[in-house]
Amino acid sequence: MFGRERIELKTPEQVLAMRRAGLLTHAALESVRAALRPGVSLRELDAIGAEVIRAGGGTSNFLGYHGYPATLCISVNEVVVHGIPGEQVLAEGDVVSVDGGAVVDGWHGDSAFTAIVGEPADPGDVELVETTRRALWAGIAALDARGRVGDVGAAVEDAVGDRLGIVDGYTGHGIGTAMHMAPEVLNHRVRERGPRVRPGMCLAIEPMCTRGGVETDVLADEWTVVTSDGSRAAHWEHTVAVLDEGLWVLTAPDGGAAELAAFGVQVPEG
Ligand code: MF3
Ligand code: CO
Repeated sequence: MFGRERIELKTPEQVLAMRRAGLLTHAALESVRAALRPGVSLRELDAIGAEVIRAGGGTSNFLGYHGYPATLCISVNEVVVHGIPGEQVLAEGDVVSVDGGAVVDGWHGDSAFTAIVGEPADPGDVELVETTRRALWAGIAALDARGRVGDVGAAVEDAVGDRLGIVDGYTGHGIGTAMHMAPEVLNHRVRERGPRVRPGMCLAIEPMCTRGGVETDVLADEWTVVTSDGSRAAHWEHTVAVLDEGLWVLTAPDGGAAELAAFGVQVPEG
C-alpha cells in the first residue's frame, strides 16, 4: 500500500507529543470498555468515546476519514473491523472490537481492543480474544531486537498458531502526522522482511484473527468488513514508538512495561 514511501522518523520531543495522543486514545477506549453491557447501543458507545476525546482537547482521526461517519469503529461478532456504530444493541456473549484514535496537536494515536460482553458464549471466543491480544504483544516485542519491520508479522503468526485465521488483506501501519503512513506492518511472515527498525519509528500494530477462515467481504455500506464464513473475529492494536532507549507503547498507560516484561523486553523509565 505504501510501497517505498519514506518513513517519518520522530524526534524524542515529537514522540512525547504523540504520547499525549496515545494516552487520550487509551482514555477514550477505556471509557467505552467500562460501558460495555447487554442493551447498550453502539451509537451510545461511540458518543462516550467522542466525548472523552473532545474533553481531552483532541479530535477524532476516524471521523470524516474518507467519509467515515463515526468516531469509533465498533465491530461485533463476525464483523472484523470498520463496523459503523448505529442502533444495534449489544447482547450477552457478543465479541466486540472497539477501534479508535485521537489527534492532539497534529499527532495521531490509534488503538483497538476486543472484549466479550458479560459471560462468554463458549471457550473458543475467549481463546480468540486472548490469542489475538497475545499476538499483538508478541508483535510489539519483536521490534525490540531492531531487526526488520517484517519481524512483527513473523512474531504475530507464530503467536497465533494454527487454531485461528489471520485476516487477509488488512495490516498495521506507520503513524505520526497522519493516521496511516509508511511502512505497512503485515500480520504474517513474508520473505521480504521490509525496512530496518530504527529509532524514531512509530508503528500501529494490529493483528486481526478469526475462529475460521482468512477471507472477508465488505458490506454494501462500503465500510463493514465481515468474515466470509461468518466466524467471529478479534482485533487488537497499539501505537508503539521505537526509541534509542527501547520501546514505548504510546497507547498503553504503563508504556507496555507489564505486558512486554513477559517477553523479556524492558521499557525505558520516565
Ligand atoms: N483504525 C483503523 C486502523 O486501525 C482505521 C479506521 S479507518 C476509519 O487502521 F475510517 F474507519 F476510521
Ligand atoms: Co490502525
